[in-house]
Amino acid sequence: MHGFTTRQLHADGKTKPMNAHAMPIFLTSTFAFDSPETGADLFLGRRAGHVYSRMGNPTVETVEQVVADLENGEAAVAFGSGMAAIQASLLSVVKAGDHVICGEALYSPSLHLITQRLADLGIASSVVNTSDVQAVEDAIRDDTRIIFYETPANPTCKISDIRALAELARSKEILTLVDNTFSSPYFQRPLDLGADISLHSATKYLNGHGDVIGGIVVARSELAAKIRTYRRDTGGILSPFEAYLLLRGIRTLSLRMQRHHDNAMKLFEFLAGLPKVSKIYYPGDPTFPGHPVAIRQMTGFGGCFSFELADGLEAAKRLLKRLRLCTLAVSLGTVDTLIEHPASMTHVATPADIMERQGITSGLVRISVGCEDIEDVIADLENALKTD
Ligand SMILES: Cc1ncc(COP(=O)(O)O)c(C=O)c1O
Repeated sequence: MHGFTTRQLHADGKTKPMNAHAMPIFLTSTFAFDSPETGADLFLGRRAGHVYSRMGNPTVETVEQVVADLENGEAAVAFGSGMAAIQASLLSVVKAGDHVICGEALYSPSLHLITQRLADLGIASSVVNTSDVQAVEDAIRDDTRIIFYETPANPTCKISDIRALAELARSKEILTLVDNTFSSPYFQRPLDLGADISLHSATKYLNGHGDVIGGIVVARSELAAKIRTYRRDTGGILSPFEAYLLLRGIRTLSLRMQRHHDNAMKLFEFLAGLPKVSKIYYPGDPTFPGHPVAIRQMTGFGGCFSFELADGLEAAKRLLKRLRLCTLAVSLGTVDTLIEHPASMTHVATPADIMERQGITSGLVRISVGCEDIEDVIADLENALKTD
């Protein structure tokens, strides 16, 4: 098998329409049939081909092929956002009367989707600390169908043991869905560790350039087919133009990820020496609680992490207002550095008790370290943290 970087450049296949080198953008809503019989065969799946872009599109299928390859999975299904991918993954396998276990360290809208939207549909849930395998085992019920968690989790990089959770779940015929957004397949491949579905907000590292909203899931073929049928019925497919941008972004994924990791390591070392910074949540820190598991299941620690300012909210606001280079914005995984305040932004809808357990305090800041010359990012932070 070729190396990761070779695969990110070649998994889109040698043959493309009209001998194109890059996969073209198929901006078409529908596809012409050469006969009524062909149309009928395509609809019944008796013949392979394209019918209508809500059901499948060549540019979208190419990005699915590439991400499935990079995750060592059989098939991928691409969506118009990470949230659409999460919704489809869950609702294609759970129904009214079922039970879902989810990690308490979860992106706020994911938590809200499970505890509110799924509850409205008669699907029960338990929100647990998935870093504690015993806590997950204790939460399992006869009607539990799926365990969903992020690792590293947004924003405090909480680590859960993918292999241990997959073994536990499999022994009870329960699926595991891992949100792999923070690592990208370059640093972590959940399917290799036994998970059933690996999911990405493709908006983040997969795309890398901050100009796409997208989501993608990778699973074995039969499970991916279920998720694809759900997507067809609910209409959440990725657009061909965004599929093209994603394909373009993925061509440099390994190069960007390595740089994000190297830069984040240097920024962590700088912040670790500052008395004003009371806590840092970075899996690359040897004293971080999740570090030993991170070492086992990741080949790098990524570029997004959080740190807490000892002087709380006012210090956090002061920092964010004074930065000149880093951009104050949510999202992560872009080539340039983004910084935000989880308690009032990405995680504002998280219940207070869960925020507290996660360490999402008013002094916590999340930084997605970009690919800049890291000395410039450090200088920007150093300047913004200066006391007048
Ligand atoms: C870990 C994680 N999962 C899922 C999502 C949702 O993705 P999207 O914004 O593409 O819908 C996000 C968004 O920030 C995220 O950080």
